[in-house]
Amino acid sequence: MQKITVVGAGHVGATAAMRLAGREVAREVVLVDIVEGLASGKALDQWESAPVEATDTRLTGTTEYGPTEGSDIYVVTGGLARKPGMSRADLVAKNAEIITDISENIASHSPDSIVIMVTNPLDVMAYVAKEVTGFPRERVMGMAGVLDTARFRSFIAAELDVSVQDVQALVLGGHGDSMVPLVSSVTVGGIPVTELMERSRLEEIVDRTRKAGGEIVDLLGDGSAYFAPSAAVAEMCESIARDQKRVLPCAAWVQGEYGLEDLFLGVPCKLGRGGVEEIFEVDLDADEQSALDASAAEVRDTMDQVDV
Ligand code: 2OP
Repeated sequence: MQKITVVGAGHVGATAAMRLAGREVAREVVLVDIVEGLASGKALDQWESAPVEATDTRLTGTTEYGPTEGSDIYVVTGGLARKPGMSRADLVAKNAEIITDISENIASHSPDSIVIMVTNPLDVMAYVAKEVTGFPRERVMGMAGVLDTARFRSFIAAELDVSVQDVQALVLGGHGDSMVPLVSSVTVGGIPVTELMERSRLEEIVDRTRKAGGEIVDLLGDGSAYFAPSAAVAEMCESIARDQKRVLPCAAWVQGEYGLEDLFLGVPCKLGRGGVEEIFEVDLDADEQSALDASAAEVRDTMDQVDV
C-alpha cells in the first residue's frame, strides 16, 4: 500500500503511526495535526528511529491536508478524549464539529480512500464521516471491536494463565458500556470457555470488559487508552493493506444485519483491500439479541444528538 494518513497526533495517533511504520504496512505514513509542530515533531522523531528499527516506511508530519492527497486509508483520531467521570457520549457535540471538518478534507483530497474512525463516540463519529464524505459503507468503519475483543481475550488469558493466542472471542455492539461480549463465542484452544471457568467469574470478566476503557481513564487520571487502541488500528490497516481478509469485529453500517439498520455497530467483518467486504451474522440467543438491541438503542440516542 502506498499511503496511510493518521489524523491527530495525540497519543493514539502518534502510537498508531509508529506501529504502522514498524510493520511497514504502507510505503508512506502522514501524520496530521492542527497544532503547529506537533505532527512534524513526532513524525520526525519516529523517522529518526527508522534506521535502528530497520523500517523503510517514510513518516512525515504536517498541519495541512495537501500532503495527504491520494491516501489509501485515513485513520481518524482527532478530537477530544475522555476525562475521568465522562462517558464517550459526552464528547459528541465538539467532536462532531471536528470530524465534519476532517471528513470534508478527506473527501476532497482522497475521494477513493477508506476511513477508519477512532474518535469517540466512534459509532456516531463514523456516521458523521459517512454522511459528510458520502463514501459507501464499505469504505467507512470504526475501530472498536478489535480493541474490545482484545481486552476480553487478555482478561480471560490472564485468568486461566494461558496464551492470549489461544483465546478466541467476539464483542459485538456499540463501543460503550452496553457493548456485548459474547460468552457463547469464547473458546480456549478450541474448548468452550464455559468448560474452563465458573459462569459467575465469566460474568465478572464480561463486566470488566464493558468498562475497560473507563478503567484506563481512571488509572491515567488525564487522557485515555492508546497502546491497545493503536494496536487494534494497526491490525485493521494491515488486513486492508495486505488484502488479508481477516475476520475482525469492526463498527460497520448495518443494513438489516442482526435485524438492525442505518447505524454503525460492532459486527464481525471481512476486511480486505475493498474495506468492509462482508459482514458476518452470528446466531444469537434471545438474551444476546436483546443486549445487542439495547446497545444499538444507546448508539441511536447519541446519533440523535448530531445534525449532519
Ligand atoms: C477506549 O475504549 C479510548 O474508547 C477508547 O479506551
